Amino acid sequence: MDRWKYYDIIHQRHSLMNPVDETKLERLYDLLELKPNASVIDIGCGKGEMLIRLAEKYDIKGLGIDKSPYCVREAEKGKRQRVPQADVRFLEMDGAQYKAESGESSHLAMCIGATWIYGGYRNTVRALGGMTRSSAFVMVGEPFWRTNPPREYLQSEGLSVDSFGTHHGNATTGESEGLRLVYTVVSSQEDWDRSEGLHWSTAAEYALAHPEDTDLEELLARDSKERESYLRWGRDTLGWAVYLFRKMR
Ligand SMILES: C[S@@+](CC[C@H](N)C(=O)[O-])C[C@H]1O[C@@H](n2cnc3c(N)ncnc32)[C@H](O)[C@@H]1O
Repeated sequence: MDRWKYYDIIHQRHSLMNPVDETKLERLYDLLELKPNASVIDIGCGKGEMLIRLAEKYDIKGLGIDKSPYCVREAEKGKRQRVPQADVRFLEMDGAQYKAESGESSHLAMCIGATWIYGGYRNTVRALGGMTRSSAFVMVGEPFWRTNPPREYLQSEGLSVDSFGTHHGNATTGESEGLRLVYTVVSSQEDWDRSEGLHWSTAAEYALAHPEDTDLEELLARDSKERESYLRWGRDTLGWAVYLFRKMR
């Protein structure tokens, strides 16, 4: 099954494709106080929800990049419906291949839940730092281990202990890359439950509405495996947070 199709189906009811509570994020958006024409880049932007929300709140110049054609289509639709006049655009491409135009440097660079694009969390913090100007913000969304992950969980998910750090580790990694941590938004188990539950319910809804789809068996098997892994291990083991850093020079 096409992986972008799978992600599109299980995220039908998500605007943000991560276990983050939007009211908590709103407090973080308040802190940004972006000036008119501030340039914002979002790598792995999903449906563009963060850029669109920021464009509703501030007069930004935004660029969102995502590899999924489904996401870029949704992002463009959201932009047309909610902020048609805003200077926000979306590109369908591999984020790792994006090269900023010469002289282009952002006031806010973010990558929320897609750090594999740069080969991991530290590389992402570094890459985003390199795209930003003096006193800019760098925002990264990343999982963290709440407790030592059980071996069965790692095997089932194809992860290793090194796949993620701790919450404290994620915070200090940014600092060791020369940035200053200024805020975090940490997801609760309730936030995770909502996000995961929406995957399960939309997979079931899709299956009932599209009995002819030849991908159904694979879709439901994959959703069942992910649900089992979350309930058995993930819910107690994995945390998730958005880290907001600032360049101090
Ligand atoms: C977990 S989702 C997060 C989306 C968005 N940041 C959000 O919080 O709603 C990860 C996103 O990364 C995108 N993605 C995966 N690999 C990518 C790549 N190599 N380049 C750009 N986007 C990629 C996926 O299509 C998906 O939209």
